[in-house]
Amino acid sequence: MIYITKKMYKKIEHFSNNFSLLKGVNSFINTNNLVNEYPSEKDVLGSLKAAGEIHKEVRRFLQPYLKPGIKLIEIAELIEFKTEELTNKMSNSKPINKGIGFPVGISINECAAHFHPKPNSTEIIKQDDVIKIDFGVEVNEWIIDSAFTVCFDSKYDKLLEAVKDATYTGINNIGVDVSICEWGAQIQEVMESYEINLGNKIYPIKTIHNLGGHNITQGIIHGGMFLPAVDLKGYMSPNYRFTEGVYAVETFGSTGINNVSEIGDCTLCRLNPLHDQILKSKLTTECNQLLNQIQNKFKTLPFTDRYIEVFNINNYKSHLKTLSDNNLIHSYPPLCVNKGAYTAQYEHTIYISDGKKIVFSQGDDY
Ligand code: CO
Ligand code: CO
Repeated sequence: MIYITKKMYKKIEHFSNNFSLLKGVNSFINTNNLVNEYPSEKDVLGSLKAAGEIHKEVRRFLQPYLKPGIKLIEIAELIEFKTEELTNKMSNSKPINKGIGFPVGISINECAAHFHPKPNSTEIIKQDDVIKIDFGVEVNEWIIDSAFTVCFDSKYDKLLEAVKDATYTGINNIGVDVSICEWGAQIQEVMESYEINLGNKIYPIKTIHNLGGHNITQGIIHGGMFLPAVDLKGYMSPNYRFTEGVYAVETFGSTGINNVSEIGDCTLCRLNPLHDQILKSKLTTECNQLLNQIQNKFKTLPFTDRYIEVFNINNYKSHLKTLSDNNLIHSYPPLCVNKGAYTAQYEHTIYISDGKKIVFSQGDDY
């Protein structure tokens, strides 16, 4: 999503031996809709369709493992394992980072987005949690960005229902020439028609104002447009309209405050493709080494500390900070509302043109 404000990891064989969950994984693949051959580079819609089918299959595979007690790292590894496996099933496959469009966001409760566990995290999912799972699949540098919310207690159902309804309002109403401002207002109206009873107290469900959808361009997950899930009349021209393109439609609901801020340590980054070449000459050897590795391994796709750790570069964290401080990479810290509140998210990647709408990531689950 867009937030507005003022050792490459181990080989699968090694991985399977060291990862208890993968020993018992159900490797059944529903191949009906999966694409057999890697689409040609020029085939934009074919690339997105292939990535969308993989996204759906990874979700189907993941569902049974999403239980209290699973480690966040295990969720990430399961998604990465399945994404790589399905990507490699396509003949002539040439993924950038094994088909991983971006590292999964596993954001819990008041945290709405951009949380990814640190390499040695032991954090687990708990019975009472509300978890947003947001991951990406890449084909020919086209990324499917899609997210859903999981919980184990039906007391949160209204929150999930409100956000799903809001996201589908956005999907149903989007089209070429639609005013983005009015579109956002319609989403907010739907989301905020809901309320939730938690612990015998009624909470209105609010749209998170400073999180929203975005356009997607080749290789760039956030193409620069902000798609509000609120009424931005007065801030956004009513004549700012959708044009043909690829969009991630996503909305976030909160039982607490209606805006997020950056909280906690950042583990998600991506290369800034417009970075200043002169700056590079002023960096230390290690910093340049790290920047080159990032460029070679991920191009402009987002990455996380877990993927960098295996490069075996000493003090990579401080070099990442230098790169970020110099705007050579973008950082995406966790985004949270107030503690004690709950947030939910649903997201799909879609394409619109005159009279045409394709929702690539829509499946039986959401
Ligand atoms: Co997004
Ligand atoms: Co997303």
